[in-house]
Amino acid sequence: AAALEQEAEDAVVGQGVVESNWAGFSGRGFVNYDNVIGSSVEYTINAESGGEHDLTFRYANGTTADRPVSVTVDGVNAQAVSFPGTGAWTTWQTRTVRAVLHAGANRIKATSTTVNGGPNADKVSA
Ligand code: GCU
Ligand code: CA
Repeated sequence: AAALEQEAEDAVVGQGVVESNWAGFSGRGFVNYDNVIGSSVEYTINAESGGEHDLTFRYANGTTADRPVSVTVDGVNAQAVSFPGTGAWTTWQTRTVRAVLHAGANRIKATSTTVNGGPNADKVSA
């Protein structure tokens, strides 16, 4: 069911694997995006009201290269979101962006835009 927060391991994964080998995640694990362009995680996030909301992505990136993704809401309004290195795969940080949501369930899809794939993804909250 839609909620204000969703674990990546409960979301719809397109080219990626649920893993738990790096400590510090919430829930049962995280999604390891395949290291290709176009790997994705699609969360379902419920909003009580329509309009601009903060979307907070919790992630880890143990490399020094950014792992940018394109974030869409119900398939539209794409915005680029960067996920810089966090220093270690066990160091989890958050990135918050603004997005227009409608009241009810919104499909928040984060698709990698480089050959490195996305970061390791823990959860999204709104
Ligand atoms: C390592 C790490 C993975 C990570 C991957 C990557 O293999 O164990 O958790 O996803 O690097 O570079 O994407
Ligand atoms: Ca990966």
